[in-house]
Amino acid sequence: MKKSILIGLAGMTALTAFAQVPPTSQADSAWLFTYATTKNDGKNGLHFAWSTDKSTWHEIGPEWAPVKSDYGEWGRQKRMLAPRVAYNPATRLWEAEWRVNEREDVLAYTNSDNMVIWKPQDYFATADAPKMAAGPDTMRLTLDFGGEVVGQMHRVAWPLVNNLIQARQMQLQKDAQNAERAVDDKNGRFRHLETQTISVNVSGEGQKAISDKLIGIFFEDINYAADGGLYAELLQNRDFEYNGKDARNWNAKTSWEAKGLDFDIATADPIHANNPHYAVLKVASADGAELRNLGWEGIALKQGAKYDFSLFGRVPEGKQGKLKVQLVAADGTVVAESAVTLPKGNAWRKVSCVLKSSATTNDETGDASLVITPLATGTYHLDMVSLFPQDTYKGRKNGMRRDMAEALEALHPQFVRFPGGCASHGNGLDNIYRWKNTIGPLESRKPDWNIWHYHQTVGLGYYEYFQLCEDLGARPLPVLAAGVPCQNSSVGGSGQQGGIPMDQMDEYVQDVLDLIEWANGDPKTSKWAKMRADAGHPKPFNLQMIGIGNEDLISDVFTVRYKMICKAVKEKYPDIEVVGTVGPWCEGSDYEYGWRLAREMQLDCVDEHYYNSPGWFINNQDYYDRYARTYNGRPSTKVYLGEYASHIHGRRNCIETALSEALYLCAVERNADIVEMTSYAPLFAKEKHTQWNPDMIYFNNRTLSLTSGYQVQKMFGQNAGTTYLPSRVSLSNPNSNARKRIGSSVVADAASGDLILKFVNYLPVENKVEYTLPDGYPVVANAEVLTGELNDTRAVPAPLEGVVLDSTSLKFTAPAYSFIVVRLAKPSAKKK
Ligand code: AHR
Repeated sequence: MKKSILIGLAGMTALTAFAQVPPTSQADSAWLFTYATTKNDGKNGLHFAWSTDKSTWHEIGPEWAPVKSDYGEWGRQKRMLAPRVAYNPATRLWEAEWRVNEREDVLAYTNSDNMVIWKPQDYFATADAPKMAAGPDTMRLTLDFGGEVVGQMHRVAWPLVNNLIQARQMQLQKDAQNAERAVDDKNGRFRHLETQTISVNVSGEGQKAISDKLIGIFFEDINYAADGGLYAELLQNRDFEYNGKDARNWNAKTSWEAKGLDFDIATADPIHANNPHYAVLKVASADGAELRNLGWEGIALKQGAKYDFSLFGRVPEGKQGKLKVQLVAADGTVVAESAVTLPKGNAWRKVSCVLKSSATTNDETGDASLVITPLATGTYHLDMVSLFPQDTYKGRKNGMRRDMAEALEALHPQFVRFPGGCASHGNGLDNIYRWKNTIGPLESRKPDWNIWHYHQTVGLGYYEYFQLCEDLGARPLPVLAAGVPCQNSSVGGSGQQGGIPMDQMDEYVQDVLDLIEWANGDPKTSKWAKMRADAGHPKPFNLQMIGIGNEDLISDVFTVRYKMICKAVKEKYPDIEVVGTVGPWCEGSDYEYGWRLAREMQLDCVDEHYYNSPGWFINNQDYYDRYARTYNGRPSTKVYLGEYASHIHGRRNCIETALSEALYLCAVERNADIVEMTSYAPLFAKEKHTQWNPDMIYFNNRTLSLTSGYQVQKMFGQNAGTTYLPSRVSLSNPNSNARKRIGSSVVADAASGDLILKFVNYLPVENKVEYTLPDGYPVVANAEVLTGELNDTRAVPAPLEGVVLDSTSLKFTAPAYSFIVVRLAKPSAKKK
């Protein structure tokens, strides 16, 4: 009897599941045991062991799992309990289901045709879960390497096992590449490396047009980026809306201190239903009574600067409503004083005054605070107590902190993404970021808790965001939830990712369409555009693109809603570019299925995210060279690399990470016909409130710390181009490890007429660089170099000395670990 018939008798159905031809020397079938361990609280995913005789078992591991549970919050959940795996001959797919915890009646379900890439998971109440194929019984097995485990034993074709083994081996190889660190270069990998000559031959052939919006900004309110950060409001909890949902220890009085009066919070008769809490001050004796706001752990005042103070208030009981308003330095010195008078009675009124500081605090006299002193006995109601510097970016009222926005301007961003990140899709359905709650008068906006565990006043709302984009000369790229909250939500249940109920989806889709109307419509004919005009911007904002979804789990719950929204946008606004999502990673289930969906839906663009090690960026410079430019005879869906950063665990961005980003961005420029946008993430982090590292810009109440990675972004942003010119790089002493640490990109910029050379030397030795160039660029307009110690977090570019331009050849020395930009001009060309 032929061997294949024997196998057929043993397990026909599973064997047909993988039709790859086995290597001739190897078995053509085996036993595969599928199981999960209880290690790490059951979070280590689906494991495999194989055997040809059911006696000697071989591990595909250790603890290697191509599929892990994606259910619930990081930390507490993501558990795979008692997985059952079976082959379904009808669909020719392997199916898996498991319980997600001991409490909830939830089954996770997924399937795969090769056991390596699994469909993004769906979650069901047990009664509603798909009926899985019967498959083998669950049994106990004692493994030499894993002790006693529980799972299922399947008879399978050898190529299926082989494929798993190879996937595991490939993972090991990737892990080794990802672990490559520059700190190991000098005395290890490159200990014999000497200075060499690197020739870059720039060709006139094969030029291609590249995206003119390649470098942009990712803005998310994480790490206090908005409230307490870019949004210039100096008082914290101005709306008395802080609560325990924002942060465990917070309440409506957080950041306020009262002395000599009763300070209470009421909700009976607020200024607006969206802003229900307000302060009630009962003053029995005006002597020594005060209410103090501590700012964002202090207020940094500048000598001579003016501050707009305002509040909503009323005096339901009392003789008069005069309040003294002071800015007080930490040592008690009053550095500014004025007064406001509230109306008697029950009507709220906004009152304001200007305070001019006589001193610079924070550096010299310590952190300041704001003190409100009622000057008579009575009952006072206060809300929306605000202190804004007049010196905001471009002088905007309710505007942005000037130094922070100017740091953004210097990046020359071509677009700004907002409001996230995870802040876009929120933690649970109720926390999805709703743009309509963020426009209109500040007192009527609806604050919400922030997924990063603090408070969003939404004072920096959609209007301010669009205004900022205009001020920066950047296109807006709003990202809206795809009808689902974050898959890592801590609240939600019923399939964890939840999903706006289908009977409310039409309304949600309309909200998305209304945003486009609000941004671009005609105030004469559109109610939404009229709101924009009433807020001070009659001219359209010229919104050209919109993102739908943020690194979501590509589940069925997601897919149906995502398709509805994208279709509606395209039907009503065919010219709006829709940017979809392909999960949180550069490979795996969500990436794979997200891309399949994008192709099927013929999406304009998708948003890719990956935070990887420097080793990953060094070893994956060909990542986008692998991408198809066309699909089914049509131009392919384009890429927005919407979140990325080179990470060394827990560390700030430094020369080691920044230069690996520069290497990668050179490769991205080469592929900027398919990659049309990129944005480093996250952007801002406040000292003492940094929840995520690394970030591009660190700040405190007074100063900014611009990282080495910021400088890389700036050098790319300020030296963007519109045409890519291929070039050939050769090392006098060829060595592939060294070669992949040399980056080069040559672009021409249509607006200025300049030719821009970018060169990365990610090696521990200096190198002589010689470019052969096209004729006609006789002027070196600018040449700068970013370099430093590998752990230098705040390197700054300096002029590059010793650049020699001679007709069609350009020479310079690239220091060890450096990024160089040389800008060449035609004398007659019109400058930017
Ligand atoms: O950039 C920080 C976070 O990383 C974003 O909010 C999220 O999209 C990603 O996981």
